[in-house]
Amino acid sequence: MPTAPHLAPTPPQGVTVPAEEPREATAVPAAPDPELAQDPDDLDTRGAGVDAAPARPAGPAAPGYDDAEREAVLKVMRERRDIRNGFRGDPIPHEVLLRVLEAAHTAPSVGHSQPWDFVVIRSADTRRSMHELAMRQRDAYAKSLPKGRAKQFKELKIEAILDTPVNIVVTADPTRGGRHTLGRHTQPQMAPYSSALAVENLWLAARAEGLGVGWVSFFDEREMVRALGLPEHLEVVAYLCVGYVDEFPDEPELMQAGWSKRRPLSWVVHEETYGRRALPGEDPTTCSPRPSHRSARWTPRRSARRGSGRSA
Ligand SMILES: Cc1cc2nc3c(=O)[nH]c(=O)nc-3n(C[C@H](O)[C@H](O)[C@H](O)COP(=O)(O)O)c2cc1C
Repeated sequence: MPTAPHLAPTPPQGVTVPAEEPREATAVPAAPDPELAQDPDDLDTRGAGVDAAPARPAGPAAPGYDDAEREAVLKVMRERRDIRNGFRGDPIPHEVLLRVLEAAHTAPSVGHSQPWDFVVIRSADTRRSMHELAMRQRDAYAKSLPKGRAKQFKELKIEAILDTPVNIVVTADPTRGGRHTLGRHTQPQMAPYSSALAVENLWLAARAEGLGVGWVSFFDEREMVRALGLPEHLEVVAYLCVGYVDEFPDEPELMQAGWSKRRPLSWVVHEETYGRRALPGEDPTTCSPRPSHRSARWTPRRSARRGSGRSA
C-alpha cells in the first residue's frame, strides 16, 4: 500500500508579527553614588530566600512528571539513533508522519519566529537526484582524508536516501518573524539553531513511533536549494531519511564501526570555570585542546564525594 501522497492541509501559518518597539524610557534613573563601593555580601546568595522576605507568596513548585513518564522521556532520548542501515520499505501512515511533524513544529525558536519549513520528499526521481549530489560530496570528502581514515570511511554507509520511503528537508528562513525578531539581532545563527531543535524534536518523536531517521549532511547547500527549487533565501539545516527499521542499535553506528568514541559526561561538565572538573572520572585523554592542563583535573566536591556524581 503506498504511503498517503499528501499531508493533511494545514491552515496558513501566521507570521509572527513583531511587537511594537518599546518606547524610550522617559524617567532617568538616579546616577550611582561614586563613593559607594559594593558590599561584598551583596554577591553572597547563600542566604537568599532564608532571611530575605519572599518576593511573592511561596507555594509548591510546579510538579515534574511521575517516575514512569520521566523514564519514558529519558528512554526516547537514550534510544534515539541515527540510522543508515536496515531500513524497510513499509509506508509511513499519514497520521504517524503528521504526529512527527507536529512534534517538530512545537520546538523552541528564537523570538518564537518558527523559522523552519519541512519539505517532504517521496518521489523516487527527486531522491535519486539528491543521492547523486550526496555521492559527489562523499567522494570529495573521501579524497580529503588521510589514507588510513579514507580506507575506514570507504566501509561506512553515510546515507539512506534511496532506502527510505520519505526524505524530509528542514530549512531555516532567516527572515521569518521580521527584521526585529527578538534574540536574533546579535546572533543571526539563532534561526538555523531553532530549526536544528525542530530536527531533534522530529527525531525523538520518530523514535517513539518506531521510525528510524538518518541525517545526511553530505550536500552543497546551494546546489540542493537549486535542485529542489527552494526559495533562494532559505538555509538548509537538515536532510533526513525516514522509515521503519529492522532494529535500533544500542550504540551509535559510528562507534560500532570503530570510527568514533563516546565522551564521558565528566569530561564536559565544568564547575564555575572552564576546566574545573565537576564530576569524578578519568581525565580526558584525547580530543581535548589542553588535555594535560593542570586545571583540567577533577577537584573533589562534597556533592560528588557523596556519590551523587556518578561517572558517566
Ligand atoms: C548535524 C548532524 C549532521 C550529521 N550528518 C550525518 C551524515 O551526513 N551522515 C551520517 O551518516 N550521519 C550523520 N549524522 C549522524 C551522526 O553521525 C550521529 O548522530 C552520531 O554518530 C551519533 O550517533 P547517534 O545519533 O545514533 O547517537 C549527523 C548528525 C548531526 C547532528
